[in-house]
Amino acid sequence: MLPKWFNDWNSANPTNIYGPAIVIGAAGGAVFVAAMLVAWGQPYATESLQTGPRGTGMERVEFVSTLAAGDPTVAGFEAIEPIVPRRGDPLAGDEYDVVPPALENVTAANYERLLTSMRAWTGIPDLLEDPDSYQTQVAYRMIEMTQNLNENWSAHVNANAEVGVTCYSCHRGQAVPNNIWFRVGDVNEAADGWPAIQNRVTMTSNFTSLPSTYLEQYLLANEDGSYTPIAVHDLSARVARQPGDPGIQNAEMTFGFMNYIDNSLGVGCTFCHNTRAFYDAGQVTPQWATAQLGIQMVQEMIAEYLIPVGELLPPERLGPVMADAPMAACRTCHQGQQRPLQGLNVIGMYPELATTSGDYDYSAFE
Ligand code: HEC
Ligand code: HEC
Ligand code: HEC
Repeated sequence: MLPKWFNDWNSANPTNIYGPAIVIGAAGGAVFVAAMLVAWGQPYATESLQTGPRGTGMERVEFVSTLAAGDPTVAGFEAIEPIVPRRGDPLAGDEYDVVPPALENVTAANYERLLTSMRAWTGIPDLLEDPDSYQTQVAYRMIEMTQNLNENWSAHVNANAEVGVTCYSCHRGQAVPNNIWFRVGDVNEAADGWPAIQNRVTMTSNFTSLPSTYLEQYLLANEDGSYTPIAVHDLSARVARQPGDPGIQNAEMTFGFMNYIDNSLGVGCTFCHNTRAFYDAGQVTPQWATAQLGIQMVQEMIAEYLIPVGELLPPERLGPVMADAPMAACRTCHQGQQRPLQGLNVIGMYPELATTSGDYDYSAFE
């Protein structure tokens, strides 16, 4: 490809031009890449969050591009400012036929506003219109549930700042929220009483060989009303296994659940634990305590609201295997974010959904 005169000259004066050409080419390429990095930025830049003492590896590293992408549903949250009630304003009960018992004390104007918001949040345009619709009965319970979450679980849902929960936290504009779950139960008995709950390709097991039943194991009450403890570690030395000692199956079940928590929040184990001592509540981060409260909150929410709501739902809404009620857990609210909706304050404009007392605090809007 080089001109003939050059090859002739070169054969008479042998000089290695390929070596210098490669060096110049490589140097030029490096300058180009460096220039692009300066001009466009590092595509794999990471940001890290230190969660524990230095040197313990307690940190969370994420691509800046992933963080910047964020949660696309944040922009879809619609909020309307309350109308501060004046003495003599009519109440919702006076003006509307269908009024949720939990909102009887709301003024008609604010009820209208709530209705507009709740319809947008749940994507049900005629929500609370037809007294005979099951959706009306379900909505009554859902409003009570939301008030209870905000009032009695404030230490979780307002752990860092005012964030709270509204219908949108779970529904995101849809009648049936994403990331709900159903029981799958034991399909058949494998050898020696260990049901075949593992090695099944399920979303719940995050496509691992871990059990698919950890949510029902830890979040649903046992027959006597107790909850299965989340325990793996036992620090006492022992020669023979004692009945009740945690076994490998408890470890797998716990790992399945912890894996779910990680994915729900988009974090890793060191967000909550010092991984050298998972059992030690003295070496955890503040988020561990928020998470533990979250587990109790979800247990109560399921037992007191979601299982009873299952009785109101038509059969097509029930679980495919057990025909059970649709249930929520960490992922239903968090949807992969450390704080649902990236910590957007959803409750600030809705004092009516923040308390079960019927006594609403509009002072911030006066
Ligand atoms: C913690 C999560 C959560 C919150 C908060 C929540 N919901 Fe729900 N909602 C659910 C789940 C889970 C279901 C069951 C899904 C189904 O019906 O299949 C449901 C079902 C419903 C349904 C029945 C939909 C249907 O067509 O089956 C209505 C209506 C409803 N919710 C209204 C509300 C309203 C109104 C609010 C706010 C006051 C609210 N929800 C807040 C989780 C939630
Ligand atoms: C968002 C916080 C959080 C994250 C992330 C998390 N955990 Fe946990 N973990 C907890 C809480 C809270 C408990 C205690 C639950 C209880 O006892 O009620 C716990 C308990 C455990 C236990 C049982 C300890 C014992 O006493 O036997 C193990 C083991 C464990 N986690 C492992 C993990 C692993 C492995 C990961 C990562 C895949 C992980 N955790 C991620 C919060 C978290
Ligand atoms: C009803 C909705 C809802 C459910 C269900 C829920 N959370 Fe949360 N969680 C929130 C809200 C809202 C916040 C934000 C509080 C704040 O930042 O002030 C939060 C915050 C947290 C935090 C603190 C994050 C931080 O940056 O400090 C942890 C940890 C957490 N949740 C874990 C869990 C776990 C684990 C579960 C399931 C067992 C769970 N949550 C279920 C609503 C929920």
